[in-house]
Amino acid sequence: MSAPRFGDYQNEIYLHGLEDRLPPFTTDLTALESSARERLEDGPFWYVAGAAGSGATARANREAFDRHRLVPRMLTGATVRDLGTTVLGQRLPAPVLLAPVGVQSIVHPDGELATARAAAGLGVPMVLSTASSHTLEEVAEASGEGPRWFQLYWPNDDEVCVSILERARAHGYSTLVATLDTWTLAWRPNDLDRSYLPFIRGVGTAIPFSDPAFRAGLATTPEEDVIAAVLRWVPMFTGTDKTWDRLPFLREHWDGPIVLKGVQHPDDARRAADAGMDGVVVSNHGGRQVDGAVASLDVLPAVAAAAGDRLEVLFDSGVRTGADVLKALSLGARAVLVGRSYAYGLAHGGEEGVRHVLRCLLADLDLTLGLSGHRSPAELGPDALHFG
Ligand SMILES: Cc1cc2nc3c(=O)[nH]c(=O)nc-3n(C[C@H](O)[C@H](O)[C@H](O)COP(=O)(O)O)c2cc1C
Repeated sequence: MSAPRFGDYQNEIYLHGLEDRLPPFTTDLTALESSARERLEDGPFWYVAGAAGSGATARANREAFDRHRLVPRMLTGATVRDLGTTVLGQRLPAPVLLAPVGVQSIVHPDGELATARAAAGLGVPMVLSTASSHTLEEVAEASGEGPRWFQLYWPNDDEVCVSILERARAHGYSTLVATLDTWTLAWRPNDLDRSYLPFIRGVGTAIPFSDPAFRAGLATTPEEDVIAAVLRWVPMFTGTDKTWDRLPFLREHWDGPIVLKGVQHPDDARRAADAGMDGVVVSNHGGRQVDGAVASLDVLPAVAAAAGDRLEVLFDSGVRTGADVLKALSLGARAVLVGRSYAYGLAHGGEEGVRHVLRCLLADLDLTLGLSGHRSPAELGPDALHFG
């Protein structure tokens, strides 16, 4: 089967123009935030767009992409391209996944169900957050044959944790992404100023609230007493840091690949490999956790070197355009995850909005790959870049 020609979205848009049909919203992947600002209430908008503390880490993420520049090569015969890659044994149409983004119903009522449908339609894996506004069973159904991974906010209660993991495995989530950088919520002034936190209102709690082990610990059901359920869940999934010696527990209860998300130091990558993990996501949570932290892109080469061939290295934080994806791949990532971009797409138009953003990103990636003189992600390396 020939590779999908993602760049063709460009032709489709221009041809529709002949019939006075325009794209549903902007194709400028760096303008999605300002466009979403016009559609969302303050609380949800700032929950998505906001960052930790002064916002320095989120800014650094973008600045790092700007500092690295592609060096195009000519006459390489890049007419026919294949963006396909293999991640943890899974063949993907492009080196792009949807990052776990919680509480998606705050930007669109269909939330994760819309995202799952859009992702499945393109064969792009969706990483479902523990903080989903729909149950993992509902999202699995919406995703159908689509590839799906599950992201764990590691509950302190082992029985609840195992029960959630078992449900995810039983419903076709192939890979576990354990997020390490958000064991407690950072100081986020944008949300604090509005006292805006969806979880304490029982939003983004569908997975625990539908979990038999979690429900067994409640005197009344979450449907009868949402506050009691919230008061049990919030301290269960936030507030307690884990340690490296706990990783065998995850290995014991998940028989697929495990990826640690939030790694920024080469030593942490080595420890992940020593602990038998399969991959890491080099991520600073899009600048939402440690204020004043290093740009995720700037630590990628060192983490990739430490990982060697022992771990697969994924990347996120600050990816907006096709060029950004190419830069991360050139610095050692196998694939990237995108977060806010598709959340803004969801805000613009549910499933169609996510599909539009993904198609724009994949088209931009495909065209920029070819115009830089490459036919596949495998051809990219540090010499594709100019730094400084
Ligand atoms: C609104 C929002 C919610 C998020 N929720 C989660 C989550 O539930 N679990 C998780 O591991 N990361 C979560 N993240 C972080 C993303 O997975 C990802 O690391 C980050 O968005 C990447 O940066 P980008 O937004 O610049 O692409 C969230 C990010 C945003 C913007």
